[in-house]
Amino acid sequence: MNIKKIGILTAGGDCPGLNAVVRAVSKNALRQGVEVIGFKNGFDGVVRNEFIKITPDVVSGILTLGGTILGTSNIANPFKYTLPPFGTPEAPNDLSSVALHNFHANQLDALITIGGDGTLTMSQKFVELGMPIVAVPKTIDNDLSATDQTFGFDSALTVATEAIDRIHTTAQSHHRVMIIETMGRYAGWIALRAAIAGGGDIVLIPEIPYNDDVIVDYLLKRRAQGKNFSIVVAAEGAKNEQGEQAITRTVAASTDPIRLGGIAYKLSNMIEDRAKIESRACVLGHMQRGGTPTAFDRWLSTLYGAKAFDMVLEGKFGYMASFRNFGITEVKIADAVSQLKLVDPHGEEVKAALEVGMSFGSAQIG
Ligand code: F6P
Repeated sequence: MNIKKIGILTAGGDCPGLNAVVRAVSKNALRQGVEVIGFKNGFDGVVRNEFIKITPDVVSGILTLGGTILGTSNIANPFKYTLPPFGTPEAPNDLSSVALHNFHANQLDALITIGGDGTLTMSQKFVELGMPIVAVPKTIDNDLSATDQTFGFDSALTVATEAIDRIHTTAQSHHRVMIIETMGRYAGWIALRAAIAGGGDIVLIPEIPYNDDVIVDYLLKRRAQGKNFSIVVAAEGAKNEQGEQAITRTVAASTDPIRLGGIAYKLSNMIEDRAKIESRACVLGHMQRGGTPTAFDRWLSTLYGAKAFDMVLEGKFGYMASFRNFGITEVKIADAVSQLKLVDPHGEEVKAALEVGMSFGSAQIG
């Protein structure tokens, strides 16, 4: 295809590897004489027509940087725009035609969007309106279908695993039950893999509802066996058999209508009250999203970014770069957002965790 100028944006929550993708896309494009502009703050920059011109200098030295040099937003949705002065949460505006206008006014031949399910859903809507988009899947949650792994996940997993390793020393020394709360939204990938990698005793994930009685019994049994500490890894979105989750706030204006958090405190109190074992909570929160990407994420992000620009040259609009069997391929964006990729309660990873003696706090699984 005859491509002269492209736009790029990073949207949704930040995560390690965003800059590495921006760098790979830009280097691949610039070396072929294609102009690149970077919209600021996700789709907000397209609506407001705010962008920077990307030159080789702009993307030099950013491979190892966390966050995103372009800025991001998980509330700027052009289809339901709520930000002043163009909209409010009570009266959102559809500014998709403004975004389309700005795309054409900048004489862009394509847009590369880097984001999670919210961003991909918006990207798909713009594809249906005729905007030529190629997407790259990002999220620490690893919950996107149609790709084996999103970039950012490995970095978050590494932080969570290191936290479990460090917390072991306090658990051991004080003979406590330590609860480590991970992110992951509605998926248990970070919690499960970190618990396996860090040697957790109990892991609670949204896909397997837990029961307080099972947790207390398991901890008391460990104590009776002479094991004087325990590590519980709880995904922020874990729910009990009644479907209750720890929600800190509901935010109607966001693409994420609920903010999860605090399950570790709830569990810690429950354990002290019922099992009579001293317990403490540690919420890892945004620590998991910050800092430099792991080597794996730098590698994966570079492959994703280089491929995304190749896809633009091939006119693969409406497609997303996807990581499959250690190679990069392409899938329809629509397939990636059709449903979340969740942990299979009857799958290999859960089975392996059970086989090394972990509990999911459930009488049904295990
Ligand atoms: O989707 C990534 C994620 O970090 C989730 O794991 C978490 O629930 C959410 O974003 C937190 O978002 P925010 O930064 O808006 O609080």
